[in-house]
Amino acid sequence: MKPAETPLRHALVAQVLGAVPAALILMLFPALADHLLAIAGAQGLCAALISHLLRDPPWWRPIHLGFMPLAVLASGLGLPSWAWLAGFAMLLLTFWRTDRSRVPLYLTNALAGKALAGLLPAAPVAVVDLGCGDGGLLRRLARERPDCRLVGFEHAPLPWAWAWLSCRRLPNVEIRFGDFWSHPLDGYALVYAFLSPAPMQQLWSKATAEMKPDALLVSNSFDVPGIQPERTVEVADSRRTRFYCYRPAG
Ligand SMILES: C[S@@+](CC[C@H](N)C(=O)[O-])C[C@H]1O[C@@H](n2cnc3c(N)ncnc32)[C@H](O)[C@@H]1O
Repeated sequence: MKPAETPLRHALVAQVLGAVPAALILMLFPALADHLLAIAGAQGLCAALISHLLRDPPWWRPIHLGFMPLAVLASGLGLPSWAWLAGFAMLLLTFWRTDRSRVPLYLTNALAGKALAGLLPAAPVAVVDLGCGDGGLLRRLARERPDCRLVGFEHAPLPWAWAWLSCRRLPNVEIRFGDFWSHPLDGYALVYAFLSPAPMQQLWSKATAEMKPDALLVSNSFDVPGIQPERTVEVADSRRTRFYCYRPAG
């Protein structure tokens, strides 16, 4: 995983600075300690404002606004402390270091998987899914194209374990645990990526340096800024998936 600018520092600054006015209000009016939810609301408001001043993307504001009030409400549920640790561990194992990769987990649907199978050449080829999630796409491709070699990389432990277990009986699918950035792309006729806008420039540099001239890079939903795709493919699914198809070394 290449280090990327993490948004966690800004998030921490906004939350901590947002707590200062809330703490001041409490010091000035101690009677308000009975109204923790209102104090948490004031903290959330200040944190959202600070996040705005830090020029964070706009979707951070509702997160800051709701974080402390929801924490206060949730603490009223009286759950044992291990439940919070278990919840955190589950989230970490599922999403791993999304703060660094900037790529969360969402899955290619069945129609898009079918459309991707349609982009494969008639001859048997090798395909890699960069960040294969639960391996669902590769399972679908394996059914459609048992003649192709299908490789998936995943660095989040739970999706990887799921993908590995569910693909272990498919002889043409290989699920590998780890970071796809350190895996060369020269052995594949088709490289599939369903990532996010954040790593697309970096993916382009890697693809142009490593992919074979006739190999196809297919990016689900996210284009490479400033690069004209060879073609785009519209999928007739409910989210109107679009594939951006490039020949990075062509
Ligand atoms: C949007 S999901 C796509 C899942 C799957 N390719 C699909 O289309 O259904 C992206 C996946 O990439 C994984 N990922 C992100 N960066 C990665 C990296 N550097 N190495 C391996 N996996 C990564 C994430 O954990 C996530 O499961």
